[in-house]
Amino acid sequence: MATAQHKIGSGFGATSTAAEIIDGVDLTGRLAIVTGGYSGLGLETTRALVGAGARVVVPARRRAAAEEALAGLGDVEVDELDLGDLDSVRAFAERFLASGRAIDLFIGNAGIMACPETRVGPGWEAQFATNHLGHYALVNRLWPAIADGARIVSLSSRAHFFSPIRWDDVQFGHGYDKWQAYGQAKTANVLFAVALDSLGAERNVRAFAVHPGGILTPLQRHLDRQEMVDRGWIDEHGTAAVSFKTPEQGAATTVWAATSPQLAGLGGLYLEDCDVAELAPADADALTPSGVRQYAVDPAQAARLWTLSAELTGVNAFA
Ligand SMILES: NC(=O)c1ccc[n+]([C@@H]2O[C@H](COP(=O)([O-])OP(=O)(O)OC[C@H]3O[C@@H](n4cnc5c(N)ncnc54)[C@H](OP(=O)(O)O)[C@@H]3O)[C@@H](O)[C@H]2O)c1
Repeated sequence: MATAQHKIGSGFGATSTAAEIIDGVDLTGRLAIVTGGYSGLGLETTRALVGAGARVVVPARRRAAAEEALAGLGDVEVDELDLGDLDSVRAFAERFLASGRAIDLFIGNAGIMACPETRVGPGWEAQFATNHLGHYALVNRLWPAIADGARIVSLSSRAHFFSPIRWDDVQFGHGYDKWQAYGQAKTANVLFAVALDSLGAERNVRAFAVHPGGILTPLQRHLDRQEMVDRGWIDEHGTAAVSFKTPEQGAATTVWAATSPQLAGLGGLYLEDCDVAELAPADADALTPSGVRQYAVDPAQAARLWTLSAELTGVNAFA
C-alpha cells in the first residue's frame, strides 16, 4: 500500500522542546482548543500556543484545578467538559458554538491510562470511551466551528502496539486487561485522525496523531511504584529512565503537528519525535523502539471505527 508514513527529516528530534518548535510561529488571532490543557503535556502545549499569540480554550473536568494551573499564563479560557459523559460533551460544544467563534487548532490531548476496569455512560469501557469516543463526539459536534485549513491533533501513544481494535469485544465485556484497553484506545486515536483527515480534505482540515514520548506526568496515577520500576520507567529512587522526556519535550511533537509549515499538504499521519514515523515491520512487537503499526493507519479500519463511533455516540458531522 502506498503511504506517506515516512520521515521527512524535520531537523527536530526527541529532545526538541515545544518552545523550540514554536519559535518564529505567529498565532495571533488564532483560536485553539486543548482538552486537558492544564496538566502534564497539555499544560505545556497550552503554554506554547499562548506564547505564540493564540487564544486557548481549555475544557476541563476539574475546572478549579485548571484555573489554578493556568493562572497567569495569558490568553486562556477555562470551561467544563467530562469526555466520559456525552451530555457534558454536547453541553460544552453547544456553549462554544453559541460563541460564534472559529477553531483553528484542536488538540485532543486529554486521556486516562491503565485504570482498573471502569464503566462510563451506557457501560462503556472507560479508556475507549474517554480517550476515543469523547473526542470523536466532541470534534463532530464542533465541526461547524472548525475553520477551513484547521489542524486537528489526536494524542495517541506507542502503546497502540499493545492492541488493534478488538472488533468482537470493543467494550471488554470479557477479560478486561488495563494495558490492552489503553492500547486499543490509543489505536483508536490514530484511526480517528486517519478517518478525519480523509473526511476533512474538502475543507483542507488536516488531522495528525502523535506519540509524545515517555514522560512522567499524572497520567501514571493508576500505576504503583513497583510496576513503573518493572517497566523500566523509573529506578528504585523514582528517577525517570534516560529515554524519558521532560514535559516541555513531550509537548513538542503535538505543537509541531498543530503548527509546523513542514507538514503543509500532509495529513492522516502518525508522528513521533517531531517527525513523521515510519511504518513498523509486520513482525514488530511492543519492544520495537519506534514506528506505527499498519493496523493503526489502515484506512479501512479507520472507516469502520468511524461508523462504529457514530453508531455508539449518535453523532456524525459527515452523515
Ligand atoms: N505521559 C506519557 O508518557 C504519555 C505517553 C504517550 C501518550 N500520552 C498521551 O498524552 C496525553 C496527555 O497525557 P499526560 O501525560 O499529559 O497526562 P495527564 O497529565 O494525566 O493529563 C491528562 C489530562 O486529561 C484530563 N482528563 C482525563 N479524563 C478526562 C475526562 N473524562 N474528561 C476530560 N478530561 C479528562 C485530565 O484531567 P484531570 O487532571 O482533571 O484528571 C488531565 O488534564 C494523553 O492522551 C496520553 O495518553 C502520554
